[in-house]
Amino acid sequence: MARSTAGDRSGGGRKRAVPRSPRAVKQRLESLADAGVLDLPRAKPGLDDPEETPTADAASLPARAIPPASVSPKAPAKRGAKVSDAASRVAALEILRTEVAGCRACVHLAEARTNTVFGSGNPAARLCFLGEAPGADEDASGEPFVGRAGQLLTKIIEACTLTRDEVYILNVLKCRPPENRRPEPEEVANCRGYFERQIEAIRPEFICCLGTSAAQSLLRTDETIGKLRGRWFDYGPATVICTYHPSYLLRNPAAKRDVWDDMQHLMARMGIEMPHKGPGG
Ligand code: URA
Repeated sequence: MARSTAGDRSGGGRKRAVPRSPRAVKQRLESLADAGVLDLPRAKPGLDDPEETPTADAASLPARAIPPASVSPKAPAKRGAKVSDAASRVAALEILRTEVAGCRACVHLAEARTNTVFGSGNPAARLCFLGEAPGADEDASGEPFVGRAGQLLTKIIEACTLTRDEVYILNVLKCRPPENRRPEPEEVANCRGYFERQIEAIRPEFICCLGTSAAQSLLRTDETIGKLRGRWFDYGPATVICTYHPSYLLRNPAAKRDVWDDMQHLMARMGIEMPHKGPGG
């Protein structure tokens, strides 16, 4: 399976220290278990240094029907160029954020909302997580994925050795649909310009669609998430993977293993080393 080389943007191929104190280890194990990581390999003799912890390796992953996509390594940018590049991403996102805050394209949603929920994270992230729409907690706070599903997403991100600040999290809809119902096609059409321009500003190498709505909206397909999992897609220059939504995992914890499997493939493809192997690894 092809692997990208680690780029110079945040979140790229580097090792993360593994906690050493018994309390930190216990917390880490609990968090991993919540994210669906139930089995960890025993440390091999001579590998008890955190920096030497066994890593997920593309070659050790089970073969799946995921055809390789060509992901070219990023050429190192000059420092000045990097600063202005980062500044232009931030500026583009701030312009969009202001537009979204004043949007009334879906009058029924605009009238019911407390806040629009634009997105959060690293404007130069290599990886974006695309969700469906804000829920009650997100509407109240203006931040994406902060409720129960959001807490699970945070654990999944951390199990991948990343942090929320290293990735970018956004939704298809920027306003909460009533009763947390699925977004209507017209609502998605109204918001499409926002999430597409957000992704254009961030220029991520990878996008992970969380659940059916995100996957179908981004990829303009009506295939189910079950059919979309286990395949790579292209969205402009970005490589896309689809997995189950964290809300689904709250209702069906057994599916955490599938999500963990998807995340392992994604991290291997991104060239990010994992501090352990997941179930069956
Ligand atoms: N579900 C989503 O899809 N997005 C959020 O921000 C919260 C829950």
